[in-house]
Amino acid sequence: MRKNIIAGNWKMNKDLSEAVKLVSDLKSELDGKTLNAVVIVAPPFVALEAVKSLIKDSPIKLAAQNMHNEDSGAFTGEVSASMLKSVGCEFVILGHSERRTIFNETDEFINCKVKQALANDLLPILCCGESLEERETSKTMEVVEKQIKAGLKDLTNEQIEKTIIAYEPIWAIGTGKTASPEQAQEVHAFIRKLLIEISNESVAENVTIQYGGSVKPDNSKELLSKPDIDGALVGGACLKADSFRDIILSV
Ligand code: 13P
Repeated sequence: MRKNIIAGNWKMNKDLSEAVKLVSDLKSELDGKTLNAVVIVAPPFVALEAVKSLIKDSPIKLAAQNMHNEDSGAFTGEVSASMLKSVGCEFVILGHSERRTIFNETDEFINCKVKQALANDLLPILCCGESLEERETSKTMEVVEKQIKAGLKDLTNEQIEKTIIAYEPIWAIGTGKTASPEQAQEVHAFIRKLLIEISNESVAENVTIQYGGSVKPDNSKELLSKPDIDGALVGGACLKADSFRDIILSV
């Protein structure tokens, strides 16, 4: 059975002391609450270790926002899968649209990272999603299909089953413009069908597909009630402990 997963992508926000405060506040907000979702935070690299030590006796799990696909070596400024494991990461966000558009990451490069994450026992959160122009020219499904097929290329069924997919329409990220629950459900159902094609029905049923793009406490319940929306990848609204708590508790 697939799990609901609510993940907070902090992006390039919060210095060390702010990160410590945010995760401590989140821990207290969730203390004693019944959680119906796996909760993940993805702080910047420099705060991973401090955040890990604070969440160790809590249900909160740790993700990184990116990594390189090589084991080690002359890759100035990059971070490897084993480094992320060594500070306690269990998950890594890969192929976020900001990585694709600002840092020119290709589907092929992202696929290498997905394989490297899995080989190192890190669970990838593979992001996909179309631009506004692509949506307006009815290319959403084509774009998503290409990103998913390329991102999961050469993975075994077992590896696909471990991968989390995040559908994040670019036009909804940071814009306050959320995909309607129906628009999101349509793409999520399409992705699940694609997973059947790539692997099989039982694998497809077990893959968590998160929605991301202006998820807020006032729209999360409706989005998360859709049958193929299995959680959220939250940006802006995860930077305040109370709004992230409200999203988590809306599952
Ligand atoms: P917002 O929630 O700020 O739109 O960001 C979504 C996102 O990009 C999460 O990865």
